[in-house]
Amino acid sequence: MEFFASPDQPDPKFKSFLSDACDMLTTWFATTKQRQPSPPKSDLPDIAPDVEGLSSKKLLDDLYLLMLSSYQPSHPGSLAHLDPPPLTASIVGDMISAGLNNNLLAEELSPSITRLERDLCKWVANKLSMPSTSGGLAVSGGSISNLMALLVARFHSQYSYDSNIVVMASEEAHVSIVRAISVMGLPPESLCQISTDQEGKIIVDSLKSEYYKIKSQGKKCFAVIATAGTTVRGAIDPLKEISDFCLEEGLWLHVDAAIGGVFGLSNSTSKLVKNISRANSISVNPQKVLGIAKTSSLLLVSNKEDLYTCFSTGFPYIEPSRGSEFQGGEIGLQGTRPAEVLKLWMGLRQLGQNGIKTLLDDALNRRAYLHKKLDKSKLRVITGPLHLLAVSPINGDKKMSEYWTITKRDSLLDQNFMLSRPLYKNRYYLKAVMGNPHTTLSHLDELAEILNQP
Ligand SMILES: Cc1ncc(COP(=O)(O)O)c(C=O)c1O
Repeated sequence: MEFFASPDQPDPKFKSFLSDACDMLTTWFATTKQRQPSPPKSDLPDIAPDVEGLSSKKLLDDLYLLMLSSYQPSHPGSLAHLDPPPLTASIVGDMISAGLNNNLLAEELSPSITRLERDLCKWVANKLSMPSTSGGLAVSGGSISNLMALLVARFHSQYSYDSNIVVMASEEAHVSIVRAISVMGLPPESLCQISTDQEGKIIVDSLKSEYYKIKSQGKKCFAVIATAGTTVRGAIDPLKEISDFCLEEGLWLHVDAAIGGVFGLSNSTSKLVKNISRANSISVNPQKVLGIAKTSSLLLVSNKEDLYTCFSTGFPYIEPSRGSEFQGGEIGLQGTRPAEVLKLWMGLRQLGQNGIKTLLDDALNRRAYLHKKLDKSKLRVITGPLHLLAVSPINGDKKMSEYWTITKRDSLLDQNFMLSRPLYKNRYYLKAVMGNPHTTLSHLDELAEILNQP
């Protein structure tokens, strides 16, 4: 059937389909600056299949219409979120992953890639100085990584059937933690939010006193979450002090390093996440900083058996693992998973150690440069050790910050800069993420000039 690539010979029709799609994609990249970072809404092509199937030309024509009004991560002004442009090797990895259509559910459906995933997770865990018993898996984004980490922590604590339990996290922890608590069937009070200091970091003394209070009320804490890279300003919680406390009290430590984790992959930046190795579990999202095509998130645990004991149910229709390792479908929430680890593996190897270093260093340098250019007599700037920064007028209340951020955001969009508008500690801010390698210092001069205007 012509819809499937021939298993007998290189399929000429498929080859030219791929080649035309490649031309289209490279054209889309090359014309990025003719469009806005996030183009306005436009009509969608037809949705439903026609009676007869469409030619590859018609399919691509319709697809291009969709692409023209897609978000443009390669636009130098795309600075709103943690969505950088994808590495070319990562794009190819994703395409090949679709072609292979392997399934990380079980070794028999992905013999080589299951091993690749295990080894790559070990490599990342090793870079983060986690113990040799560590392991992990690729999952669909940081929210799922965090949910799974909390499920494992609760299972490990043996409080799975107890609702009188608590997890402690900073007030700046990502909203996925709130959702995880709800999905886990726990009441909202189960999340104990700890205040942060002027730098956006958890106050360890408050963590301790809240913990003792919780304990005196007869509640049981099943995990502490530290954030390595908060969503608005990139703050990193004091990992050493928190991990010392968790060790003393026998508490599971999860580090949500969806943003900061990859900084541990380069010697020049690994000090930023020093002591992350002491976590029981870590979420890392290479999609957010390193240009790995979405989705790319890893959940790493210091003892990989913990994943199996929490999630395994047995798979009556799957052969057992060939070695001593666990089947992919037995160590996580998801059953079927694509071979998306390919794009992480290829992306990291395309960059090499030097490329990883350059990408991370450059992002930090752009943040430092923009910070320097901002007029602190007019702007309140919040940032941290990573590549994120947010600004709000120094004077005025929440209402005033809302007005300023909306009008400024709109005038920035007119000049092709896209920033986001988070609410942080009762004020609106404009947030800029410096993970886009196409943003030059002269773009940042331009951006600072607009932000500095009243
Ligand atoms: C610190 C942090 N953790 C987790 C997440 C959730 O990641 P995802 O959007 O991949 O689910 C985010 C998203 O921005 C984040 O900033």
